[in-house]
Amino acid sequence: MRFHVSLLVSICVLRASADEIHLQPEQIHLSLGSDPSQMVVTWLTVDETATPRVRFGAAGSGPPKFDREETGYSTLYVDGGTEQRKMYIHRAFMTSLAPGETYYYHVGSTDGWSSMFWFKAQRNDSAFAPTLAVYGDLGNVNGHSIPFLQEETQRGVIDAILHVGDLAYDMNSDNARVGDEFMRQIEPIAAYVPYQTCPGNHENAYNFSNYDYRFSMVQSNGEINNHYYSFNYGPAHIISYSTEFYFFIWFGWHQIKYQYEWLERDLIEATKPENRAKHPWIIVMGHRPMYCSNDDDDDCRFKESIVRRGIPIMHAYGLEDLFYKYGVDLEFSAHEHSYERLWPIYDRKVYNGSLSAPYTNPKAPVHIITGSAGCQEYVDPFVKNPADWSAFRISDYGYTRMTLHNATHISLEQMSAIKEGQIVDRISIIKDHHGPYSP
Ligand SMILES: *[C@@H]1O[C@H](CO)[C@@H](O)[C@H](O)[C@H]1NC(C)=O
Ligand SMILES: *[C@@H]1O[C@H](CO)[C@@H](O)[C@H](O)[C@H]1NC(C)=O
Ligand SMILES: *[C@@H]1O[C@H](CO)[C@@H](O)[C@H](O)[C@H]1NC(C)=O
Ligand SMILES: *[C@@H]1O[C@H](CO)[C@@H](O)[C@H](O)[C@H]1NC(C)=O
Ligand SMILES: [Fe+2]
Repeated sequence: MRFHVSLLVSICVLRASADEIHLQPEQIHLSLGSDPSQMVVTWLTVDETATPRVRFGAAGSGPPKFDREETGYSTLYVDGGTEQRKMYIHRAFMTSLAPGETYYYHVGSTDGWSSMFWFKAQRNDSAFAPTLAVYGDLGNVNGHSIPFLQEETQRGVIDAILHVGDLAYDMNSDNARVGDEFMRQIEPIAAYVPYQTCPGNHENAYNFSNYDYRFSMVQSNGEINNHYYSFNYGPAHIISYSTEFYFFIWFGWHQIKYQYEWLERDLIEATKPENRAKHPWIIVMGHRPMYCSNDDDDDCRFKESIVRRGIPIMHAYGLEDLFYKYGVDLEFSAHEHSYERLWPIYDRKVYNGSLSAPYTNPKAPVHIITGSAGCQEYVDPFVKNPADWSAFRISDYGYTRMTLHNATHISLEQMSAIKEGQIVDRISIIKDHHGPYSP
């Protein structure tokens, strides 16, 4: 008998090591769909599963019921590292959501279901005044902001996330295991609120493919494009774009042109009077800044920054003129591992608004560089004598909280993850009118 038991055990152990299969959904995260009635959920399994599905239902009273179901689709991703690790990415769209309603959901297939999560469907009324967390450069190691973001999401303080590039450090590291671990770390955030991203330089490996496969950023026409897309959120139209096309040109320099043309089309649409009346704030996010006061030799340190002025000498596809022309209100970037706020600026000159309150009816876009969420490269120092356009700087871990109050008011707070959640900078941007700036 003893012999039989141990034989059985060793057969089982052998089987497990030879045919171990992983069908359990993991790394669940949300992103916005093409309009407020949709939410996209993306997850991963190591092995191929039966048809992926999301089951969901409005909270109501009593135990959660999953009275709705949508079928998703799976894509095989093979990481470019030496192990050529395989993973299956699953995506499903939840549709016809009632504005502001809380939904419970889980994802999976007949091979296994995830834990249950919940989210609030996006409101579409004019009184919706969401708060977003905005940051870049958040890694698996030294990710100081992660516990704060996890807690504030669960408490309902934060409605959505804008991650302004550089994730995980790096998603492809250790044959993409760092990517897996980072996506598990952000699940307590991203399974509950939409996690909106743009690409940074740390995503570039294998032509940005870990980033392309693991996220699902939806353009208004319903197509997924993680490099550039836009969405309406409360009183804002938010545009995400890639600064990396300007630097990793060997992946295809034509992408600079395609993106630029898309950006202009999107801005033309967003500034049509009927659209801008509903979403008067135009906010953009891209990883590398146009300006910065850091003590390094990054693009933003140069008078003719490539992001700002475009391809050297030709000055083609520069973004500062484009954003100025269409009256972009606020520009977020990261890359520098610090926080810096500028006075309203165009072409290296300050264009304050009211004398006593420079962010009241500013005469040029406001730039915020928020790249200190925490990563293994620590924080970046500043030069001793910054230019007159630099209003406030701090080399400290943390993230920005932005509340879109209404058509006239936005407030921004810089939260320190080191000083126990203390606010280290606070401003309001007040605008009676949104539109092109007059020189
Ligand atoms: C908000 O969405 C609901 C349901 O989809 C729709 O009936 C209503 O007209 C929308 N309201 C606005 C202001 O767009
Ligand atoms: C990189 O991916 C983009 C699409 O995201 C594609 O247009 C481009 O051709 C790719 N470049 C290379 C070198 O594979
Ligand atoms: C902009 O406003 C700030 C704060 O009032 C002030 O320190 C700065 O000198 C102003 N710059 C210009 C060019 O007016
Ligand atoms: C807009 O929001 C600000 C800040 O909450 C508030 O002071 C102001 O009264 C609001 N304006 C309108 C028109 O509701
Ligand atoms: Fe970066």
